[in-house]
Amino acid sequence: MRKKVAIFGSTGSIGQSTLQVIRDNPNLFEVVTLVAGRNSSLLYDQIRDFHPKHVYIQRHEDAIDLYNSLFYLPNARMSMEEIYYGDEGLDEISSIYDFDIAVSALVGIAGLKPTFNLIMSGKEVALANKEVLVTGGRFILAHAKKHNCKLIPIDSEHSAIMQCLQGESQNSIDKILLTASGGPFLTRDLTTDITVDDVLKHPTWKMGKKVSVDSATMMNKGFEVIEASLLFDIYPRNIQVVVHRQSIVHSAVQFKDGTIMANLSPTDMRIPIAYALNFPNRIKNSIERVDLFKLLNLTFEKPDLNKFPCLEYAYSALKSGLDKQIILNAANEVAVEKFLKKEINFNSIPALIYTVLDSWLTSIDIDSIETILELDADVRNLMN
Ligand SMILES: NC(=O)c1ccc[n+]([C@@H]2O[C@H](COP(=O)([O-])OP(=O)(O)OC[C@H]3O[C@@H](n4cnc5c(N)ncnc54)[C@H](OP(=O)(O)O)[C@@H]3O)[C@@H](O)[C@H]2O)c1
Repeated sequence: MRKKVAIFGSTGSIGQSTLQVIRDNPNLFEVVTLVAGRNSSLLYDQIRDFHPKHVYIQRHEDAIDLYNSLFYLPNARMSMEEIYYGDEGLDEISSIYDFDIAVSALVGIAGLKPTFNLIMSGKEVALANKEVLVTGGRFILAHAKKHNCKLIPIDSEHSAIMQCLQGESQNSIDKILLTASGGPFLTRDLTTDITVDDVLKHPTWKMGKKVSVDSATMMNKGFEVIEASLLFDIYPRNIQVVVHRQSIVHSAVQFKDGTIMANLSPTDMRIPIAYALNFPNRIKNSIERVDLFKLLNLTFEKPDLNKFPCLEYAYSALKSGLDKQIILNAANEVAVEKFLKKEINFNSIPALIYTVLDSWLTSIDIDSIETILELDADVRNLMN
């Protein structure tokens, strides 16, 4: 029987790679749900090729256009009831549980509520969206436990750590060594003018715009520290970020006896995605192999926290509590958006985040999705 897959964020970088894995393995997987934001023409192509049962597009007018254009494709025609749109539509489509595994790959806190709904299915949820754990923290983990939902990481680093920990006991772990490519500005002087185009040229990974900016500020790595601490139940002080420019070692675990287990693979997100989709079994692929004889220069360096303060902000939010993580995430999302719209320069991203974190003195108990979203909205209102 083929595994039924729901993809939230199908038109994004992770979503498209997930569809490539499914296209290459038609005997293993079938698509039941596709969720996109604004890219209705790509969603149309995906519906034509994969014949899902339900789809989502953000705007009502795009949903109607989609319905009309699909009408001329007898094999992929969909009724208006199967095409969801708007905030309510996203809530509804994420509450249809006819999948075996759902891929959570929306970007930003927009993915939180849908992922919360998907978790209630009690099925597998493959998690790419970092902001879900950054803003939902232990609240999301408890929710997954309550509903007996297995969360499987897609991020290459967390997938690597999970693989290094197979068959190991929790108390044998000494440290997590979380690798970071360092982004496009590892060696560049950040006091020079940095354009949006400079930021979008990542040296080793091709990703969506928001995550590319996060990668350049190293906030992305900070978020991954938070995710790793939560997913693997490790104190922040036992997570060491290691700058590894070649992105061949995807992370490692150091054990109490001094052994380090590392995970190496080609730099291609289809590998951790396929592993998550078919967990715990691996799928053969034709991706070019890592040739050990060509790995003459694998380098490992300490991150420069003065140059990349966002990494430090993430450690500090993780130690302070979930409300600080929510504030950090909201401040980052607004600052990144402002940079992408060319309203602020690159260096103002960490500066703006610091101002927000520093001025927010009250602490708030987070006990529901609503309180998370309220705090997120308060931060956005303050910044806009
Ligand atoms: N890319 C990577 O290599 C990578 C690796 C590890 C983890 N991640 C994480 O995975 C997540 C996705 O990353 P990405 O690079 O795939 O991002 P992306 O290319 O920007 O894709 C984001 C997806 O979410 C959709 N979307 C955004 N807002 C939406 C909304 N309000 N309603 C419905 N759909 C919405 C977008 O739709 P439209 O494009 O149609 O508007 C798109 O399909 C991020 O949290 C990122 O940190 C990414």
